[in-house]
Amino acid sequence: MKREAHSITDSTLNALRSSLAGTMSEKRYAHTCAVERMAQRLGALYCPECIPELRAAALLHDITKEESLQNQLQLCEQFGIMVSAQDVLAPKTFHAKTAAARIRSDYPAFATSTVVDAVRWHTTGRADMTLPEQLIYLADYIDDTRKFEDCVTLRHMFWDADPAAMDEQARLTHLRRVLLCSFDMTIRSLIEDGAPISEDTFHARNYLLLQLA
Ligand SMILES: [Fe+2]
Ligand SMILES: [Fe+2]
Repeated sequence: MKREAHSITDSTLNALRSSLAGTMSEKRYAHTCAVERMAQRLGALYCPECIPELRAAALLHDITKEESLQNQLQLCEQFGIMVSAQDVLAPKTFHAKTAAARIRSDYPAFATSTVVDAVRWHTTGRADMTLPEQLIYLADYIDDTRKFEDCVTLRHMFWDADPAAMDEQARLTHLRRVLLCSFDMTIRSLIEDGAPISEDTFHARNYLLLQLA
C-alpha cells in the first residue's frame, strides 16, 4: 500500500521519538534527536513541505546502527538484501539498507518513499540524490552533537554563509558545495583509514561536480 506523507504529524513523530528511547544507546538516541532538529532546520530552508518526512527519516535513520555484523547479515537475509564481498569490507554501510527495510516492515505508518529513500542513502549518498536525501545526509553529518573535526568544519561552512539570506538558486548551490566538501572529506578519511570507498559515494561526488560545473 502506498503511504501518505500527511499521516505523519507532530503527535505521531513525538510518539515515535519516545518509542525509540529504549531501543538504542543514550549516545545514539541523543544523535538521533539532534539529527531530527537539524533536519527540521534544513527543511525550513529548503523544503518546508517535507519537514514531517525529514523528521521521520531522521528519527529512523540509525535504528539498526548498533546491530552486530552478524545481526546485519541476518537482517539482510530476512529482507532479501544482496550482500557482496565489498559490503562485508565496509560493514558501516549495512545499517542504511537494513534500516530502510525495517521501516517498511516495522514502521509502515512512516514508510513513504521519501522517508525510506532518505534513510537508504544517508551513509553513502548516490548519484542524483533527491533534495530530501541530501538534507538527511547533511543533517546526519552536521548535527549539533558531532564533535569530529570534519563535522564541525562542515557545520560552520554551512551556517556561517547565512543560507537564509540567499536567494533560492544561491541556496541550492551552497547546499551542493557543502555536500561536495563532505564527500571529499569522507573519501579522504576512508583513504587514510585504508577503507574501501562505496561506488555510490564517488558517484555522489562526481554528480555534484557536474551540477556545479
Ligand atoms: Fe547512519
Ligand atoms: Fe547517524
